[in-house]
Amino acid sequence: MSVLGDLIYDSRILVVDDNPANVALLEAILDSAGYRDVQGLTDPRGVLGRFVEREHDLVLLDIQMPHLDGFAVMRQLSAVHRDDYLPVIVLTAFGDLDTRLRALEAGARDFITKPFDTREVLRRIENMLEARLLLREKRAQASVLEELVAERTRQLRELNQTLEERVRQRTAELEHLNRELESFSYTVSHDLRAPLRAINGFAALLRDELQAGSIPNSQEYLQRILSAGERMRQLIDDLLMLAQLDRKAIQRKPVDLSAIAREVGAALAAAHPQRSLRLAVEPDLKAHCDPQLMRIVLENLLGNAWKYSSGREDAVVEFGAEGLGAERAFYVRDNGAGFDLAYASKLFQPFQRFHSAKAYEGTGVGLATVHTIIVRHGGRIWAESAPDKGTTMRFSLPEP
Ligand SMILES: Nc1ncnc2c1ncn2[C@@H]1O[C@H](COP(=O)(O)OP(=O)(O)OP(=O)(O)O)[C@@H](O)[C@H]1O
Ligand SMILES: [Mg+2]
Repeated sequence: MSVLGDLIYDSRILVVDDNPANVALLEAILDSAGYRDVQGLTDPRGVLGRFVEREHDLVLLDIQMPHLDGFAVMRQLSAVHRDDYLPVIVLTAFGDLDTRLRALEAGARDFITKPFDTREVLRRIENMLEARLLLREKRAQASVLEELVAERTRQLRELNQTLEERVRQRTAELEHLNRELESFSYTVSHDLRAPLRAINGFAALLRDELQAGSIPNSQEYLQRILSAGERMRQLIDDLLMLAQLDRKAIQRKPVDLSAIAREVGAALAAAHPQRSLRLAVEPDLKAHCDPQLMRIVLENLLGNAWKYSSGREDAVVEFGAEGLGAERAFYVRDNGAGFDLAYASKLFQPFQRFHSAKAYEGTGVGLATVHTIIVRHGGRIWAESAPDKGTTMRFSLPEP
């Protein structure tokens, strides 16, 4: 039994000899040894075709044959054989040493001398087939390994690419944040400096008057210092509120936004009794959100609508909703001063104001706060406006 077990008996074997008796004898020997796939051929001109068709594991090849001798057949086989291991054992006449050596040089692996001894023939054939099968197995393993390595390399390359992509994204995000932070700190320091300058300026004027002993304007200077201080306090409070919002946990529950809008509207009306403003609230608008935070949103949006429609006698403010499901957008609309949408990209940045502080009071933090709250809910907010044409602020909230 071969070291490879039964496997060896499936080998494809071709016996080539112009003497049919030799072919029959070898076929019989191989057959009785258990080989299952043995073919015989007496015309050497048919070998190439058969070999190409079946890719034999072993060719037992006679050397002296009419039409084409064994050397010529081996040359043909070498030309089509895919690897350098030509599976040929030549059959030579006993004592013909020169032919045997030439055959080995021509690529044959071994030789069998005629007349042959059955046990020797089988042993040589078995050795040859074993070597061949082992070689094939080794090559198969190598190619599996190669494939594995190629696959791993591909995975690594992919991983590398996604990593690089992620780093690129993060860098872009960080750069964007950095730029925002820069413009934020610029506006903050700029806006905080204005009241500070007022305080210093009027304090110096007050000091001069006190030194001169005549104080006709001191009351006014003091008042200016106080209101600048108050404005600064307001700015700092708003800023702190905005910063805290980022950290505050959101507590979602079913909320009646219409009810909140009516309450906020009533408070605004009470705070501005001189205004004759009509507020229209669509009833029963519900959302899944944080009630406290949504109150802040509506206070700011309705507050803005109130404030920026103060120039109109027939001011109308509406709270309603459009669309359905995930597409639903709530809106706060006024028919007031409006603003140029060219500024829209800055609308939600803190301290950005598009109207003069003289005409309309404010710190410019309201919409930044609203934006933070809506985004933290997973929604979005956008504006539609034009100077003197009123404003509609729309926002969406994800459905539960
Ligand atoms: N309904 C609106 N109509 C016209 N302009 C608006 C309206 N809402 C916002 N704006 C413009 O956008 C700017 C930013 O609004 P935001 O609410 O952030 O600040 P503010 O109202 O000026 O101050 P704050 O809300 O902090 O008191 C406003 O200064 C104003 O120019
Ligand atoms: Mg505001």
